Amino acid sequence: MTDQNPIAKKSRTVWNTLDNFNLTGKQILTRVDLNVPFKNNEVSDTTRIKRIIPTVNEIQRAGGQAILLSHFGRPNGKFVSELSLRSLVPSLETLLSQQIVYVADCRGPAVKAALKSIKNDAILLLENVRFYKGEESNSSTFASEIAEIADIFCNDAFSCSHRAHASTTAIVELLPSCIGRLMEEELCALNASLTSPKRPLIAIVGGAKVSTKINLLLNLINLCDYLVIGGGMANTFLAAQGISVGQSIIQNNLLKTASLILEKAEGTGCQIILPSDISVATELSEHAKTTIFSAQNCPDSGMILDLGPNTISQITTTLQVAQTLIWNGPLGAFEVNQFATATTAIAHEIAKLTRANKLLSIAGGGDTIAALRAANVINRFSYISTAGGAFLEWMEGKPLPGLHALKKHSQSQNKDIN
Ligand code: 3PG
Repeated sequence: MTDQNPIAKKSRTVWNTLDNFNLTGKQILTRVDLNVPFKNNEVSDTTRIKRIIPTVNEIQRAGGQAILLSHFGRPNGKFVSELSLRSLVPSLETLLSQQIVYVADCRGPAVKAALKSIKNDAILLLENVRFYKGEESNSSTFASEIAEIADIFCNDAFSCSHRAHASTTAIVELLPSCIGRLMEEELCALNASLTSPKRPLIAIVGGAKVSTKINLLLNLINLCDYLVIGGGMANTFLAAQGISVGQSIIQNNLLKTASLILEKAEGTGCQIILPSDISVATELSEHAKTTIFSAQNCPDSGMILDLGPNTISQITTTLQVAQTLIWNGPLGAFEVNQFATATTAIAHEIAKLTRANKLLSIAGGGDTIAALRAANVINRFSYISTAGGAFLEWMEGKPLPGLHALKKHSQSQNKDIN
């Protein structure tokens, strides 16, 4: 999100932020999320690195020492050379335009020695915190070893706040703590989308499987005015209504759950939008020939791979009356061009309405971001979250341990937290 983003301007959170501390001469242990896609010795998506720049710059401008702490992949408490954060040094130096001093540890004498010799304008990068067993077990002993090297803890990794790990949770009890600028933006955006949205509020939920989104849907029907269900998961909802979906993948064990969600939505007044027409093919490939059918008429040999034009137009019409939108999951098999039609058309409509200041648009989740990037609208939404799992869990209404710890910490400092 840019500095011009309306969400950041309008909302100030009541968490401890960088504004609550005098950073001059202080060592700020900054939990960031450098869990970036890395192939052929290169970071293939630099978004997460770029998004920590405001926090790092601000610490430095205030005369503080930025110490970056992150995980990278899932090494399971062991050293795994391909998951060393050393490999990210060149990308970090380029994107942050600063010297990065990497230390092959995240606690103890090596870090202390580096801190003594480092120039104030260099950034210290600690080794992958998940190389240590104490991280994922949320060990307070391990947390206190990391805490020893710093004066202040700054959590700028909303995308990791669904993990009760030492570097997101236990550490908060050990140092004066605050949220960084990226975390602040994420919280403001999420607050504006589900906690206190301008209504009507519309949610778009897609993706392949209902099983991964049940809690999400159950939460959204309580909060939203409209809920679009698309992607592969919509097939299970169609099947639950007795509609034949040909060869489409459905989750038979969730037919009852799907019916229950539809029933509950009637009670909460959330209008569900399911496909009324469908784009069908016999194979998921670039050579596939697609045909549009009404949702009731899927041929026995066909697979539903995208929404049809009537459904797209129904969603577009609903978007005109909405004031807030939240999106998680693509609407079709967007990886193949023929089946990206609905995702692309809806993404463009949202971008248009956002630009005209008619809609506050928020999206998150790995697949969603890939789909919006493919549709070329990634910078045209009000806010794109950097989080995958954390965004989903937050949308499900689950308490996130990293946030809970920070909230408790702020409360203990007599802050008024909402
Ligand atoms: C992510 O990529 O969503 C975060 O970095 C969290 O990673 P994890 O799922 O391995 O905890």
